[in-house]
Amino acid sequence: MIKRVRSWWKREEKIEPPERSIDNVPEHVAIIMDGNGRWAKRQGLPRIIGHQNGMKAVKRTTIAADKLGIKYLTLYAFSTENWKRPKDEVDFLMRLPQEFLAIELDELVEKNVQVRMMGDREGLPSHTVKAMEEAVRRTETNDGLVLNFALNYGSRKEITDCMRELGRKIEAGALNPEDITPEMLDRHMLSGGLPDPDLIIRTSGEMRVSNFMLWQMAYSEMWFTDIYWPDFNEHYLYEAVAEYSRRTRRYGGLT
Ligand code: FPP
Repeated sequence: MIKRVRSWWKREEKIEPPERSIDNVPEHVAIIMDGNGRWAKRQGLPRIIGHQNGMKAVKRTTIAADKLGIKYLTLYAFSTENWKRPKDEVDFLMRLPQEFLAIELDELVEKNVQVRMMGDREGLPSHTVKAMEEAVRRTETNDGLVLNFALNYGSRKEITDCMRELGRKIEAGALNPEDITPEMLDRHMLSGGLPDPDLIIRTSGEMRVSNFMLWQMAYSEMWFTDIYWPDFNEHYLYEAVAEYSRRTRRYGGLT
């Protein structure tokens, strides 16, 4: 059982905005939170302790993103491939959203954060879905930071499901293939309604995208750090955002 702790939000109010203000803050930051297992192993601890500390980093990062003025924060919490892990670890990961929300949901409501979930509900344990749905329902009228959990999410599955849906519409005579546009595909993706990520962060030194937002990342800026996810904090987020703000995005054109 995960030890229940009091909300971190109040305790971490001390998180300060960067000394220099950043002009060009990305609207949507998406994070591949990697390295929980190695963080634990480095200290001779079981992997699940890494995930538990990863949950604390989720909290810190949410507060920091909010303070920086980021509008959308997407966190890759569980992929469609993560089911291959040992059952104990999967069970633990499936309890984390529930634990996190049991501690934090009141504060998230109060802080005007809107919680969303992007992924297949099918296959998730009912307790996980119930916790996520309650959080989505209780925060749906909030118009502050959007905290989007990618849970049981896989981009190839997302694209495949989108194709199936459009295929069914074509078969029913409700859609002309010529009328399919990138914007239409966008709306049919699980991320429908969110802008594409401006900045994608991956922790732990791995430099791959692991089936994450493949359609949506066409023009995302990437930022990698060797830091393991449980050690991630506002300083790394500021560093990533500051570097983003210095880059020039050309979208295939010229400046
Ligand atoms: C990858 O690290 C991390 C995951 C598969 C799980 C990520 C989950 C969290 C950070 C907690 C989520 C919290 C909430 C509130 C949903 P890894 O285990 O693959 O690390 P390793 O590569 O070092 O083994």
